[in-house]
Amino acid sequence: MKRYVVLISGRGSNMASLLDASASGRLPASPAAVISSKPEAEGLRAARNAGVETRVVDPARFPSRAAFDDALAGTIDAFSPDLVILAGFMRILGNDFVRRFAGRLINIHPSLLPAFPGLNTHRRALAEGVRFHGCTVHFVTPDLDHGPIIAQAVVPVFDDDIEASLSARVLEKEHLVLPQAVAWFVEDRLTVVEGRVRLDASR
Ligand code: GAR
Repeated sequence: MKRYVVLISGRGSNMASLLDASASGRLPASPAAVISSKPEAEGLRAARNAGVETRVVDPARFPSRAAFDDALAGTIDAFSPDLVILAGFMRILGNDFVRRFAGRLINIHPSLLPAFPGLNTHRRALAEGVRFHGCTVHFVTPDLDHGPIIAQAVVPVFDDDIEASLSARVLEKEHLVLPQAVAWFVEDRLTVVEGRVRLDASR
């Protein structure tokens, strides 16, 4: 069975959705480890409780971005995963790191990319008055939040939404779409053709 490593920085609810999907058999892949960039990340406890190996690679302990990226890559490689999943990982990774894991590095982003790359996506969606918002799972490329899109989920934006209500509505979708995208990956159903992801629908 294929194995994945999840990178987190905080709450870890998307990570938990992956562990749940693996435990229930909906996701035919097993978690090799959860790695956090923050020693105090809430998600670490949930991972340990689920019996998954955890590691912390804290950027504060490294003299440069490149040294951090190297240490993180080494920590991941020790588990030899088939797939590396950024699930609320709040660090920008350098080009060498991205190249090293190219084709097996995916990210979940809380907007309908290419709209609202970067931070504070829900606040910016409200400020722009968009009627629909959502989340995107994509392959990571050196171009921040712009890699080939595997899956998206859409939610309506209501007149009385505030950041908290909108982010909660999107998060519910994130918890569905990320395990689904990972399942497609581990089932070898995804190919990238000219920057677009094709899903093998014959299975
Ligand atoms: C999620 O909404 C995820 O999409 C977002 O952080 C949140 C993490 O929540 N990721 C990014 O903003 C990446 N740029 P979680 O820790 O509960 O999964």
